[in-house]
Amino acid sequence: VKIYADGAHLEEMLAAYKTGFVKGFTTNPSLMKKAGVKDYVAFAKEVVEKIPDLPLSFEVFADDFETMEKEAQKIHSFGKNVFIKIPITNTKGESSIPLIKKLEDKGYSLNITAILTIKQVEETVSALNPEVENIVSVFAGRIADTGRDPIPYMKKAVEICGTKKGANLLWASSRELFNVYEADRLGVDIITCTPAIIEKLKKVGKAPEQVSLDTVKGFNKDIQSLGYT
Ligand code: E4P
Repeated sequence: VKIYADGAHLEEMLAAYKTGFVKGFTTNPSLMKKAGVKDYVAFAKEVVEKIPDLPLSFEVFADDFETMEKEAQKIHSFGKNVFIKIPITNTKGESSIPLIKKLEDKGYSLNITAILTIKQVEETVSALNPEVENIVSVFAGRIADTGRDPIPYMKKAVEICGTKKGANLLWASSRELFNVYEADRLGVDIITCTPAIIEKLKKVGKAPEQVSLDTVKGFNKDIQSLGYT
């Protein structure tokens, strides 16, 4: 599975870029808000300039399809390595599939986002142009947040994406390091990871005995700092 970094802090993105094992980047409007991005276009252009050789996903902001199309054209012009994120629906629940087809006809690389159902995966994949590289982002963590096991969903999504050339399945909303192993086992193409998971990935492979010892040492350090001993 390819590891992408999920976030909109330029410094964190550049640090992830330096690791060498991060093979692409995803952002979204909520992550931009959290990172305090004020000027979206300036931010995106700076990211493209500093990370010119890995896939980068930037999302449209509009809620009406006409404006989304214009934004998509603009985002497409940022660079060859840019994927335009299109949510599978607008806030009224209207399907983005007609817009997706239009953009696919133009040969744009898209990242279809906010997918949580198998029906959405099916509709998306059938709208994709096999001549173009695209990303299908299934929000496994948000599926889990509804109390459902995301594994059967992701398994089915692997199957569906496998029917269309260029349809790369991405495990979005990662929640823990082990998701990387689950995604890999299922044959998911990409998993986008939070900065916390990227940090943990740098340290995988520690013996459980060592982690047990480190845990107790951590507790002990905190006990001492509280002045209990
Ligand atoms: C990435 O492309 C997604 O926007 C992101 O992983 C969503 O994460 P969240 O569901 O934890 O907000």
